[in-house]
Amino acid sequence: MTVLEVLQATTAYFKKHKIESPRLNAEHLLAHVLGRKRIELYLEFERVLTESELAPLRDLVKRRGEGEPLQHLLGTVEFCGLTFLCDKRAMVPRPETEELVEFLESDIRNPKSEILDVGTGTGVIALTLAMKFPEAEILAVDISNDALTLAQENAARLKLADRVRFLKSNLLENVKGTFHLIIANLPYISTQNCHTLSREVSRDPAVALFASARGDELVRQLIEQAPPYLRPAGMLALEIGIGQSEALSSALAEKNYRDISSKNDYSGVRRFLFARYG
Ligand SMILES: C[S@@+](CC[C@H](N)C(=O)[O-])C[C@H]1O[C@@H](n2cnc3c(N)ncnc32)[C@H](O)[C@@H]1O
Repeated sequence: MTVLEVLQATTAYFKKHKIESPRLNAEHLLAHVLGRKRIELYLEFERVLTESELAPLRDLVKRRGEGEPLQHLLGTVEFCGLTFLCDKRAMVPRPETEELVEFLESDIRNPKSEILDVGTGTGVIALTLAMKFPEAEILAVDISNDALTLAQENAARLKLADRVRFLKSNLLENVKGTFHLIIANLPYISTQNCHTLSREVSRDPAVALFASARGDELVRQLIEQAPPYLRPAGMLALEIGIGQSEALSSALAEKNYRDISSKNDYSGVRRFLFARYG
């Protein structure tokens, strides 16, 4: 089969298995197997693939059809223009979180800011900010050993290991110091909604997805814990779940945060909350 024929057959297979963006998935997997950039496939549509090229692709296509996330199969994910290792040890970073980092980038005025990332997962938020703000001091915490190991592998790969400190902590339990900015994309799905997740999302670690029965419990706990860890006028920035914005804004107001604001993600969901303290 030629490159084009393989892409067409794989796309049809993915459509049948209800994979979103079937052609894009097919291109990513074939490019990965051939060690090419996706765009380079277009230059060799007519080339006939050898059996040694097709064999590894068959396995990946089958696993993708069964709902294994594309990023796990590729082993990497792009986030804000950087490449991160990605596997089942931590949640696959989402495009919404890139939007959060972009909002914060334009908001950070002090290049030497002290920044805390709570629930760092693969480390994407902490490491992207470390790359963009070479003088910032950054601490990243997570409750999961697996996530911390993966985040540290990402730090080493991006040559940021001496720029970001990693610490195991249940929210702020083991954190010392004060910060200009605390960011958190914590689990915000209700345990009651665990049956509604897509096949791909249900491959993320449960510790990265679920809070408790309501879904916003961990974020509420962080709102309570954060004030003594924020410098005067320091900012708390949160990624939250659908429909949680109003109640969490009230929780921030009750705890005397000020300048409380929210922003939508690209799909129009009120997804981010920002507030200052002191
Ligand atoms: C939704 S994932 C976000 C990961 C990453 N920040 C991102 O945006 O892709 C939530 C992360 O919070 C961590 N986590 C869950 N409960 C926690 C807790 N009580 N304290 C600290 N981290 C926690 C999970 O292990 C997971 O890595």
